[in-house]
Parts: sequence; C-alpha cells; structure tokens
Amino acid sequence: MSSPFFLLLLFSLFVAVLSQPPQPRGFFLDCGSTVNSRIGGLQWLSDGPFVAAGVPRNLSAAGLAPTLSTLRSFPFDPSTGPRKFCYVLSVFRDARYLVRTTYYYGGVNGPGSPPVFDQIVDGTFWTMVNTTADYAAGMSSYYEGVFLAIGKTMSVCVAGNTYTESDPFISALEVILLDDSVYNSTDFKKNAMGLIARSDFGSADMIVRYPDDKFDRYWQPFSNSTNGQSSTHNISVSDFWNLPPANVLNTALVASSDKLLVFQWPPASLPNSSYYIALYFADTLPESSRIFSVFINNYAFYSDLTVTSSGLAVFATQWSLSGLTRITLSASPGSVLPPLINAGEVFHLFPLGRVTHTGDIIALEAIKKNISNPPLDWSGDPCMPRVYSWTGVTCSEGTRIRVVTLNLSSMGLSGSLSPSLARLTALSDISFANNNISGNIPDLSRLKRLEKLHLQDNQLTGRIPSSLGNIKRLSELFLQNNNLTGEVPANLLGKPGLKIELFPGNPFLSRPSSS
Ligand SMILES: *[C@@H]1O[C@H](CO)[C@@H](O)[C@H](O)[C@H]1NC(C)=O
Ligand SMILES: *[C@@H]1O[C@H](CO)[C@@H](O)[C@H](O)[C@H]1NC(C)=O
Ligand SMILES: *[C@@H]1O[C@H](CO)[C@@H](O)[C@H](O)[C@H]1NC(C)=O
Ligand SMILES: *[C@@H]1O[C@H](CO)[C@@H](O)[C@H](O)[C@H]1NC(C)=O
Ligand SMILES: *[C@@H]1O[C@H](CO)[C@@H](O)[C@H](O)[C@H]1NC(C)=O
Ligand SMILES: *[C@@H]1O[C@H](CO)[C@@H](O)[C@H](O)[C@H]1NC(C)=O
Ligand SMILES: *[C@@H]1O[C@H](CO)[C@@H](O)[C@H](O)[C@H]1NC(C)=O
Ligand SMILES: *[C@@H]1O[C@H](CO)[C@@H](O)[C@H](O)[C@H]1NC(C)=O
Ligand SMILES: *[C@@H]1O[C@H](CO)[C@@H](O)[C@H](O)[C@H]1NC(C)=O
Ligand SMILES: *[C@@H]1O[C@H](CO)[C@@H](O)[C@H](O)[C@H]1NC(C)=O
Repeated sequence: MSSPFFLLLLFSLFVAVLSQPPQPRGFFLDCGSTVNSRIGGLQWLSDGPFVAAGVPRNLSAAGLAPTLSTLRSFPFDPSTGPRKFCYVLSVFRDARYLVRTTYYYGGVNGPGSPPVFDQIVDGTFWTMVNTTADYAAGMSSYYEGVFLAIGKTMSVCVAGNTYTESDPFISALEVILLDDSVYNSTDFKKNAMGLIARSDFGSADMIVRYPDDKFDRYWQPFSNSTNGQSSTHNISVSDFWNLPPANVLNTALVASSDKLLVFQWPPASLPNSSYYIALYFADTLPESSRIFSVFINNYAFYSDLTVTSSGLAVFATQWSLSGLTRITLSASPGSVLPPLINAGEVFHLFPLGRVTHTGDIIALEAIKKNISNPPLDWSGDPCMPRVYSWTGVTCSEGTRIRVVTLNLSSMGLSGSLSPSLARLTALSDISFANNNISGNIPDLSRLKRLEKLHLQDNQLTGRIPSSLGNIKRLSELFLQNNNLTGEVPANLLGKPGLKIELFPGNPFLSRPSSS
C-alpha cells in the first residue's frame, strides 16, 4: 500500500493540540535516524540499538515526512549468497503484534528503480517488497502484518533475493502490541496475516490513524462520491472486538434508492488464497435500523443482517478469494432504509514458517557473544527461512530444525570459542579455520555426531582436551598453526580412522613421552 510522502508531516500539525490516548505499546523506529524524536504525537526512536548491520543514510529531498527523510541501507553482495538483516525487538511471548514496515527509496542507491527484496518475521517469509510503482508515483510504501510473538524477541528482517539489484533499505519499522480481542478469530499459532486493505468507507478525507486508532492502524478513505454519507450522530464502538476507531464508523457508503450497493473491494486483484475479512456496519441515522444481506462475489457472506446505530461487525476467518472481488449489499424485503457499510479490513492469511530448535538458538547466541566481530547477518532465526540461514550455518530438515554444520573459515573473526559450542549436539562439522580466534578449545565431547573439527590457523592456546578422543565419529582434527601447549592426548594419536594435523605451528606442543 502507498501513501503520499508528505503524509506524516501533515499529521504532525494536527494532532499536537488534541488530547490523546497513550502511545501504543511497542516500537516506533525511525530507521537511519541517530536521534529520538516526537512525530505525529508519537515518540520515535533511533533504530541503531535494535540492529547490528547496515548504515544510516539521509535523504536530501525537501518536504519529506521526518520518518521518511532517513533510512537504513543494508549491504547487498550476490557473491555472499542470500543474507537477511534483522531488527531484534523485545516482546511479550504469545502476544499479538501489528508489524508495519515503511519504505521510501529517495534514490539512495543512485538514480533508477528502487531495489526489490524480501521481508521476513522470525522464521516466516512475509512478502516481497516492491516499491517501484509507488516510488514512480511519488509515494512511500508500507506493509502491515499481524504476527504472534513466539519467543521473548521478535525479529523483522529485510533480505536480498534473486530480483535484488542494489542495497535493500528500510525507512521506518513499527511493532505494536494489540489487545487480546483484536483479530482473535484467527489462529496465530498457525498463520500470520498480511494486510490487503483497511478501508474507511464513505470518507474522502485523510487516512485515519493514531490518535483516533489506539494501535495506529491506518484506515484508508474509500469513497465513491455518489454514495458517501456522514453520520448524524456519534457512533459508540465499544462492542467491536477489533476496536475500529469511532471516526471510521461515522462515515459510510450508502446505497441509493435502488437498495443495492455494489462495489469492487479490495481495489487490487488478489491471488487465489485464503483471506480474513472483517466488515463493520453502524447506522448513520440515530435510532434506526436496516436489514440487508452481504454477498462477496455472489456468495452469501451474511444474510439478513440487522444493522442499528449501535453497530455490528461480521468476520470470515478463512474466505477464499481470487482475482477481483465484488461486494454486494442487498436490502432485505421489508427494510425501509437502503444498505450501508462503514469500514472493512481484508488480510491475506499465510502459514507461519518453522523456527530453529530453541536450544540451538541459545547456543549460537552464546557463540556469537564470544566472537568480537560475528558475521553481519547473525541475527533473527539462524536456520529459517531456509534460504536465509546465517552465514556459515547449515541446518537439518525434519521435525526439529537443528544446526548441522558451522563453517566460519576465513572470516577474519577474533574472540574465543564459547563452551556453548558443545550444546549444538546435532553438529557434524565445525570449522573456524584461518581466523584470529584465541583462548582454549572447549570440551566438545557432548558432540556425538562430530566428524570434522577444523580449528587450524588461529591463535588458540592451552591444552588439547583429551575428551576429543571420546568422540567416536571424529575423523578430521586440524589444529596446526595455533599456540597450543602441553602433551597431545594419547587417545587422539592412537584413534583409528582419525586424520590429525598438529604441525606446523604449535611450537610448545609435545608428543606423549611414554607411548
Ligand atoms: C543525517 O543528518 C543528521 C542531522 O542533520 C546528522 O546528524 C547525521 O550525521 C546525518 N547522517 C548521515 C549518515 O549523513
Ligand atoms: C516490481 O514492480 C514493478 C512495477 O509494478 C514491476 O514492473 C516489476 O516487475 C516488479 N518486480 C518484481 C521482481 O516483481
Ligand atoms: C475474542 O474476544 C472477545 C472479546 O474479548 C471474546 O468475547 C471472544 O470470545 C474472543 N474470541 C476468541 C475466539 O477468542
Ligand atoms: C460528536 O461528539 C463531538 C465531541 O464529543 C461533538 O463535538 C459533535 O458535535 C458530536 N457530533 C454529533 C453528530 O453529535
Ligand atoms: C459508485 O457506486 C454506484 C452505485 O453502486 C456505481 O454505479 C458507480 O459506478 C460508482 N462510482 C464509482 C466512481 O465507482
Ligand atoms: C483456488 O485454489 C483452489 C485450491 O488450490 C482451487 O480448488 C480453486 O479452484 C482455485 N480457484 C480459482 C478461482 O482459481
Ligand atoms: C565469553 O565471553 C564472556 C563475556 O564476554 C567472557 O566472560 C568469557 O570468558 C568468554 N568465554 C570464553 C571461553 O572466552
Ligand atoms: C568451509 O567453507 C570453505 C569456503 O566456503 C570451504 O573451502 C571449506 O571446505 C568448508 N569447510 C568445511 C569443513 O565444510
Ligand atoms: C588477525 O589479526 C591481525 C591483526 O589484528 C590481522 O593482520 C590478520 O590479518 C588477522 N588474521 C586473520 C586470519 O584474519
Ligand atoms: C603464539 O606464539 C608465538 C611464538 O611463541 C608468539 O610470538 C605469539 O605471540 C603467540 N601468540 C599468542 C596469541 O599467544
């Protein structure tokens, strides 16, 4: 979806004087900004503390909304293979969050089209980001989704794909805690939802958002000038689980005297898939009611709804749509007033991706902490989505997603090897060869599947743990060009089927004296 790039600026003039609900709980990140600021009545934070990669950039165009005038740009290098770059945010486990990403290219990679890339939440591929058409029309683009927090952090990532031609970027990121009742008919343990349209029918005004919408959802005006109508009373909305703001209910599209209202909504053609649809109705005349049926593409969605001024919402949790969608509201016999509709939301339902085994995530986080310059893409889920596993990490298929190899050779790494390496119990291959790793070799005897351990060409010190000799499957142990000391454990030298390399280097290492 798109919005004019000066939109936020206009809003900041309006909201300052109104009394407001509290700022929605969650994160409002002004990507690329080095300072925190108050914009549109909301406190926006610099994104630096939430992301390890990318560089802040400023756009010089005049008149840009403040959140669009800075962005963060991430390196795209096809030779490194697919990489994702993630924001990692603290969330409440099992709570439901609205995630909105905003993009305004502004020519930051040079003239030409904006890059096309992917966006990812935790282990789930969300959607491709293609801002080309909006940018050509002078608009920013935003994407909105609803996701369950599966852990204590949520990661939101951008990632180059096969269409990407220059550095991916992001202008703003919002992650907002929703109340329990909002969209609660969807099973978020299985699905996430991506917004297709959220419409304020009958309004020709501006987008309705915070402070009217306490979660800062955007309600786009959807008008058909012949049918728009404003309410003559103030509609109260306390009974709607999805908590639409009062103003969107105060306008409606109303059928003319033929008692039939037909319109195409959502505006875009849709891929054949399953959708969540919520429609909101409230009579614009006080103390009156009307009865009508709702059809979607000629299928009865709800029959003989009685809509009064106190309002009514209807949902479909999994409704199939394909191509263009036609909504028909048809007055029921006996209804004096023609049908109307005040607001609507439609979301694409898509399956949650899987995530890496928790124990492996914890271990990798500990390993990362002991490396002073871990690879830039080491955040978010280590294995998923599968093409976007962390640099050097490969993972298993199957019921549990486990890390099976860790190859960080020749990456200029310094720091030490965390003992947590031994908790990646599905590992068969480890290589930290040709880096600047120092410290001791940890006890890895828990790694029953380990076959190859390549730690050559580093600055490791201390003794070679004799427990390595207990790893049955170990077939390659390369330790040359380190500063290891002491005696080589006899159980390693005598181990059948083990190829062991200790020299050159390791000047203070000695063979067992008594063998
Ligand atoms: C962007 O502009 C701000 C304020 O003018 C400045 O402090 C910051 O250093 C600039 N950032 C870059 C990357 O040029
Ligand atoms: C991105 O959008 C533009 C304009 O709509 C379209 O021409 C282009 O094919 C799209 N790119 C991809 C990779 O889908
Ligand atoms: C959704 O929330 C409403 C209001 O709290 C509640 O009455 C309803 O039972 C909930 N539905 C589900 C499926 O949890
Ligand atoms: C709705 O309420 C507002 C403020 O409470 C008031 O200013 C306005 O006149 C009311 N509108 C109608 C149609 O009653
Ligand atoms: C508005 O709605 C009327 C009646 O449904 C329809 O005839 C007309 O074409 C619509 N106008 C636009 C601009 O969509
Ligand atoms: C949509 O997909 C379903 C199942 O994949 C299929 O049965 C149905 O015919 C498709 N509908 C259209 C309009 O293509
Ligand atoms: C790992 O890092 C922590 C904190 O920086 C440090 O205390 C610990 O000694 C390091 N472990 C190893 C094996 O170097
Ligand atoms: C690790 O990766 C390097 C380069 O990508 C490759 O040459 C090497 O064989 C790999 N090592 C292992 C143990 O897989
Ligand atoms: C190790 O660090 C030194 C200086 O800190 C650097 O010159 C050297 O290239 C590094 N070696 C590797 C293999 O990264
Ligand atoms: C390793 O040993 C060499 C030779 O004794 C020494 O020059 C070097 O400083 C040592 N490096 C480390 C990291 O201890």
